[in-house]
Amino acid sequence: MNIVIIGAGAMGSLLYQQLQGNHQVSFLLKPDSIQQGLPKSLSFIGLDKQTQRLPLHYVSKQQLPDADLIICALKAYQFKDAIAYIAEYLPPRCPLILQHNGMGVYQQIRPLLDSQQPIGVMLSTQAARRLNRNQIQHTGQGQWQLGNYQNLHPDLASIKALLSQLQDCQWYDEIRTMQWTKLAINCVINPLTAIHDVLNGELSQDKYNSDVEVLLQEVIGQAELRQIPLQSKTLRDVVYQVVENTAENSSSMREDIRGQRLSEIDYINGYIVKCAQQMGMSAPHNEQCVTRIKRLQPH
Ligand code: PAF
Repeated sequence: MNIVIIGAGAMGSLLYQQLQGNHQVSFLLKPDSIQQGLPKSLSFIGLDKQTQRLPLHYVSKQQLPDADLIICALKAYQFKDAIAYIAEYLPPRCPLILQHNGMGVYQQIRPLLDSQQPIGVMLSTQAARRLNRNQIQHTGQGQWQLGNYQNLHPDLASIKALLSQLQDCQWYDEIRTMQWTKLAINCVINPLTAIHDVLNGELSQDKYNSDVEVLLQEVIGQAELRQIPLQSKTLRDVVYQVVENTAENSSSMREDIRGQRLSEIDYINGYIVKCAQQMGMSAPHNEQCVTRIKRLQPH
């Protein structure tokens, strides 16, 4: 299987490592990467703290027609430009998998793609972080969850390969509930850890309870209006489970703010605000997170 990964961040690199062995895996060359000089290998530190050195392979967009599977593991706000860059080279039957935090990306990129293109979504509760340009550490075991946006089926050869090769990867016929669950996790953990500048584990302290609760209630309200049943108690338990499992993790939004990069706030709490507005409602606690994060991130 010829697999191309777009995005060499923590998640893209974790996918690159887990897909080694039976497949030809490459990163897509970015337009500016030649000038910057390309790393020749990836140093991967596993959960067992063992370091593995993986040779890095790259392809250009002109080589995309040979791909059997393309996975875009990017920040939510990077998709539009990335898809516009590759759209004319996409092989028509090649599944395109979108891996990112938040929601609203598929709606943004759909007009750029053929309506027959198989497109799927991949959610992750894995924890990994980039230590430097060519060093990645896997910091928490989680799951990969895969589902359909359009024309993607679990019996496609490339999807079967993905499901069997990735550690703890499952197909969900009803991926929308999983997406909203992941959105709820991100709506709570990401802004609160970024605003208070704390590791995920700190959110188990009582002083954060009411913030967690009000944010979750707004997400649940919007999900219900879209026929996505999220139970308060179950969702709260899931959020605290992720807080515990990733206690030592610095959330991606906190890292973005610390690194003075743009965050994914518009696709996380901002998505809830937009959903509420579509219904003529407001989501004041999520909106407040958007305002506070926008003050902290570069303009
Ligand atoms: O964005 C993140 O950091 C992660 O999605 C999560 C699950 C909140 C863990 O840090």
